[in-house]
Amino acid sequence: MSLVLDRTAPTDAPILDVLAERWSTRLFDAGTPIDEDALRSALEAARWAPSGMNFQPWRFIVARRGTATHDGVVNALMGFNQAWAPAAGALIVVLAETETEDGEARTWALYDSGQAAAHFTVQAHAEGLATHQMGGFVADDLRAAFDIDARFTPVTVIAVGALGDIDAAEEGLRQRELAPRERRTAAESLLVDD
Ligand SMILES: Cc1cc2nc3c(=O)[nH]c(=O)nc-3n(C[C@H](O)[C@H](O)[C@H](O)COP(=O)(O)O)c2cc1C
Repeated sequence: MSLVLDRTAPTDAPILDVLAERWSTRLFDAGTPIDEDALRSALEAARWAPSGMNFQPWRFIVARRGTATHDGVVNALMGFNQAWAPAAGALIVVLAETETEDGEARTWALYDSGQAAAHFTVQAHAEGLATHQMGGFVADDLRAAFDIDARFTPVTVIAVGALGDIDAAEEGLRQRELAPRERRTAAESLLVDD
């Protein structure tokens, strides 16, 4: 299912539609509750992400708009994120189990949790939900609000929900939403390409 605002990436080689069409919006519809079936599928996609030794080190805090949990996550967001992200139907805190119960480092925990987050966003987009990941949050505020064990590291917060109306958006937000999508070339990321 595609969203109304088309932000398809201008790719140099063919990629899956869902990957090209996913983008990070700041325009959420504050009047629409999260689509529970779509959210469930996005969490299921995260569940099936690969991980080192199949440890599945990811954990999630699901905060639906209108709940005290949501207030707690919003309070931990930094700067401009606090202006747009609360309109999303849900905020998902992605955590990584970076340490075992025996105090040993889980080397791939951050990497694996990032993969789970990527699975989540791609599936969410395919389900018709918009997403936007944020690193701009105060981890200690999340720790305090949700009594998070030191073994777990908050990695990112994903805003997820129905896309808002671009025509009703305030001008600054509108311009950000319509700005060209850019990447360096694929070749520039290849340190060696023998
Ligand atoms: C780990 C991570 C942290 C990010 N942190 C923020 C953030 O705090 N605030 C924000 O507005 N966007 C944030 N972004 C969104 C990126 O700016 C965005 O993904 C990037 O510009 C590429 O745009 P696209 O996702 O639309 O392709 C973050 C993305 C990731 C993956």
